[in-house]
Amino acid sequence: MTVTDLSHAPEALAHAPDGSVTFDGVGLAELAARHGTPTWAISASQLRLNYSTLHTALSARLSRPVIAYSMKANNNRAVVQTMAGLGAALDCSSEFELALAASAGVPAGKVIINGNGKSRAYLTAAIRMGVWQINVDSIAEVDRIRSIARSLGVTVPCAVRLKLSYARLLLSDPSYERTLRIAEGKFGSSTQSGDAEAVVRAIVAAEELEFVGLTHHAGFPGYRADFTAERQLMHQARCAEEIVEFAHLLRRRMGVVTPRLNLGGGLRSGRSVYLSTPGNGGDGEFRTLPTPDEYAEAIAAGLAGADWDPIVQFETGGFHVGNAVLLLAGVQDVKDVTRPRERRYVTLDCAMTMFTGRGLNRVGFPLLVVGHGPDAAPHPLPVELVGPTCAYDSIAEDISLPPVREGDLVALLNQGAYCEVLSTQFNGFPRPAVVHLDDGDVRLVRRRETLADIWARESAALDLWPG
Ligand SMILES: Cc1ncc(COP(=O)(O)O)c(C=O)c1O
Repeated sequence: MTVTDLSHAPEALAHAPDGSVTFDGVGLAELAARHGTPTWAISASQLRLNYSTLHTALSARLSRPVIAYSMKANNNRAVVQTMAGLGAALDCSSEFELALAASAGVPAGKVIINGNGKSRAYLTAAIRMGVWQINVDSIAEVDRIRSIARSLGVTVPCAVRLKLSYARLLLSDPSYERTLRIAEGKFGSSTQSGDAEAVVRAIVAAEELEFVGLTHHAGFPGYRADFTAERQLMHQARCAEEIVEFAHLLRRRMGVVTPRLNLGGGLRSGRSVYLSTPGNGGDGEFRTLPTPDEYAEAIAAGLAGADWDPIVQFETGGFHVGNAVLLLAGVQDVKDVTRPRERRYVTLDCAMTMFTGRGLNRVGFPLLVVGHGPDAAPHPLPVELVGPTCAYDSIAEDISLPPVREGDLVALLNQGAYCEVLSTQFNGFPRPAVVHLDDGDVRLVRRRETLADIWARESAALDLWPG
């Protein structure tokens, strides 16, 4: 499969034999004519489909699943509101996300608070608002939450974020140790060292706090060289088993029941993720992802030993938005070179600054050229698709593309998760506009940045200019 193979394209995308392309019922050529390029387009239908597919899979196997949308993946108000409207709770990771959530109208009672080493300002805002749950990272945080709760005269629902031993996981597959090195680190309190138990005890003993659950997040491991869907499922199932074991231990040792188990996020939407290392050339590879049904099955198996009926929370981010957003870009230059070898450079008006994850995570993006049908004959030269910034800025290397010209449109798919939120203004490029599409309807939900936005924080007087 190549980068232009769209057999795994999102359901909201339609690519006709005549080359016309629609996303959520909106023609991409018309969209570019009306809103310009580059533009991020969010499909509300795809967001709804992704949510309902996961919710259905979980509800078929768990009695009380709750999906909290992890807004770090994409914090457009339009996305947050769509997810809240579907019934999702929300996972926030800073006081700034919390403010965005409030501005989107999400009730505090549906918000889960995450983060390591949370600031006093963050905790105070969350407690004052009356959030659903704070995922407590450490014993020091217990003390901070207590003092804030005392001064406000409230009781705070606290879950404890666990750093697992992964003993069961490593027994199943010792080679997983390399993958875990990334997942471990600064988050949570260790079940092995006794820290996690001490945090639970401190919460249970504090009259200002209510112990509501245990939480653990296993990040998406799909960018690793040894990723397979089976390994991810095994990872999730073994973690769930270990959390259940820890909850049983808490009950035996302290008589404490764990009403909520939070299993974090770590899923991606669509049937595959496209990986390619910038600079290595070649077309990269598609890796098959676990389906929501397979995921729910693995989680249910992992929780099967639980002798009580907890609320099971999920903090999925990338799964919901990943394939629900595309970046529509324009071709601004085509350059054919013969040395050091023959190739065609196609420069787009979007850049890696809009998806820095490509450099960080080997993630690549399936793409198509608007105006050329799926079976269009490729131009004979291998193409390097690049952005115009001074960074390496490669979007795809050594690919086959139809013969494109200046002004053609290219749609980069799967741009919803960790793209816009990680984007920068390198070289002074303003960030694209964002439009919300819904069954043929188009709304501008974030305007394109202007030069004035880029200068907006400048306070140096103009008389610093030596002339
Ligand atoms: C605690 C926590 N929950 C949820 C998520 C969302 O993960 P994903 O977007 O992979 O579902 C993250 C991502 O970093 C996280 O750290």
